[in-house]
Amino acid sequence: MSQREFTVAEEYRYDRRSPLRWIFSHIWRYPHLPLTAVAGFVTGSALYSFALTRVGAAFDLMLARPDLGALFAIAMTIVFARIGHGMAGLLAWYATEFTAQRLERDARDELYVSLLGKSQTFHNRQKVGDVMARATNDVQQLNFMISPGASLIYISVTSTVVPLAAIALLRWQLLLVPLIFLAAFIPAVRRYSRELNPITGRLRFQFGALNADLAEAVSGIEVVKAYAQEAQEQGKFSAAARRYRDLFVEQGRIQARYLPLLLYGLAFGLAFGHAALLFLNHELTVGEAVTFLGLVSQLRFPTFISLFSFMLVEMGLAGAERILDLINSETELDENTDGRRAPISGELVFDGVSFGYGEVAQAAGARGLNLRGISFTARPGETVAIVGQTGAGKTTLTRLVNRTYDTTVGRVLVDGVDVREWSLDALRAQISTIEQDIFLFSRSIADNIAFGAAGQATREQIEQAAREAQAHDFISGLPDGYDTVVGERGVTLSGGQRQRIAIARAFLTNPRILILDDSTSAIDSATEDQIQRAMRRILKGRTTLLITHRISQIRWADRILVLRGGELAAQGTHDELMVQSEAYRRIFARYTSGDRGTGGHGDGETRGRGDTGTGGHGAGETGGRGDTGPGGQGDTGTVLAEQSS
Ligand SMILES: Nc1ncnc2c1ncn2[C@@H]1O[C@H](COP(=O)(O)OP(=O)(O)OP(=O)(O)O)[C@@H](O)[C@H]1O
Ligand SMILES: [Mg+2]
Repeated sequence: MSQREFTVAEEYRYDRRSPLRWIFSHIWRYPHLPLTAVAGFVTGSALYSFALTRVGAAFDLMLARPDLGALFAIAMTIVFARIGHGMAGLLAWYATEFTAQRLERDARDELYVSLLGKSQTFHNRQKVGDVMARATNDVQQLNFMISPGASLIYISVTSTVVPLAAIALLRWQLLLVPLIFLAAFIPAVRRYSRELNPITGRLRFQFGALNADLAEAVSGIEVVKAYAQEAQEQGKFSAAARRYRDLFVEQGRIQARYLPLLLYGLAFGLAFGHAALLFLNHELTVGEAVTFLGLVSQLRFPTFISLFSFMLVEMGLAGAERILDLINSETELDENTDGRRAPISGELVFDGVSFGYGEVAQAAGARGLNLRGISFTARPGETVAIVGQTGAGKTTLTRLVNRTYDTTVGRVLVDGVDVREWSLDALRAQISTIEQDIFLFSRSIADNIAFGAAGQATREQIEQAAREAQAHDFISGLPDGYDTVVGERGVTLSGGQRQRIAIARAFLTNPRILILDDSTSAIDSATEDQIQRAMRRILKGRTTLLITHRISQIRWADRILVLRGGELAAQGTHDELMVQSEAYRRIFARYTSGDRGTGGHGDGETRGRGDTGTGGHGAGETGGRGDTGPGGQGDTGTVLAEQSS
């Protein structure tokens, strides 16, 4: 079993060594279904052939001495045989459909659980659209592969074998033509399947690529529109769609060249000739000849249907391969269920930590690493600020704490224990991250706040958390209050509102270690004070890594780490660093000169704008979006907020 970060209890184990084994292990999970299907198809086919032999017998009877009673008896036998055939078929199809639906459901479930258990590194490599294509379309191909694909193949086999047996019983010499036909049919089908195989594989792949393009364009629609790249994107999509279509045309071409149908036509003619010959030699009655031709004509169905059934099976196998690819791909981290589980008191130590994303960085050697030789200690309850220019590795550093990634060299210790020795679940449950780019689910605000609490939180608790995060007021102002559903990717909320929802989420989970990535947040000054208060409150009593460039927040820190190009350039208090660290002074020259100039983000905000926040946040947030830039814009935002209040 490969490593993973998440498991469900009593998970069913499938054989994942090859697509075929995997599919069989799925089917065999409910053995009664495939067995019922097989029994149903065999019985049905036997009854059908039996009815045919009765038709032949009736002909012979009519030609010899018409006897109404005997004919009626034969007719009734045929009726019952055909009714039995229908019932058996019903049962068989019912079981097949169940098998197919369960296969689809279970495979999708299995894939989803496996995706949840994959590491962040794995997910960074995947294109969302392609994963979606595999989870929806490829999984559905599995369903079609069983019903009608495999069952048609199965029916084909029985409706070949059973008529052949019936022919042998009738007169074994008559097997001649059907057997020659089969001898030619099998290699022809195999060739067909071999030709089809690469095309179906490419079809599945292209569908994934098409979907990935689409998903990217839709989720990046803002950028597409902002840069007026609609035509460009449409062109790219059309090209991908055309490649997909071309593969279908190619598939159609292979199907059109399907040889077995022609072979069957020839075989039927030959069989008729053979029967005629035997009849002329008085070795066959008319009735037997009729039965024989009836049986031979049964072979038409498997010949014809194999055109589709093999294609469906090929598609299913190609889909299975793509799904298994995802499921079986190695993931870097392990859930470590047997690891340490204990309440965290909050001591955090980085001990000679180096880290590089992916193989490329690591192959590039020490220079390719994104973090190099980081060591520092945060005592329980301390706030450690991290500053550094963009790309310095601030976010990267915080990702090593909850094992979003594992260190390449060195150790990260929580309460003196290597994070790799903690149970991943216990570790992550006690660490909250308020990320730089806050993601909200398309669910209600209340659900978003309660997200980390796994559905345990009451409405009162949710509201309490929102109050502490200074979010209650604006939430109450939304059309449905806490039940307002957030548009996808949080588009209906401003950056500052999202940040407060994230803070509320953190309040509710009550983590021992908190990571607050605030480095590029775009918040207008009017609401900033609220957020400052919310942050201040959430830090209290928790070990906090605070990424920020706001001088007011830096002041809360017990210690400041200065990162430069992935290395720890200096650490200490603000006053110490102002004296000691050239890098620190430079950063603050860069990030605070604008604030200082307008009095916007520096001390001015706390003194002067404390009370504008509550009244003006509605318009203020929209007015002040551009506030990331240097001072001037920030002021405009504030003015707007003040006017509207
Ligand atoms: N998922 C990733 N895969 C590969 N490289 C990454 C990944 N995330 C970040 N990097 C790289 O690691 C380096 C540090 O990035 P990081 O996000 O930690 O910077 P940061 O200090 O948080 O910057 P900012 O202030 O802009 O948020 C950058 O060079 C970046 O290109
Ligand atoms: Mg960052």
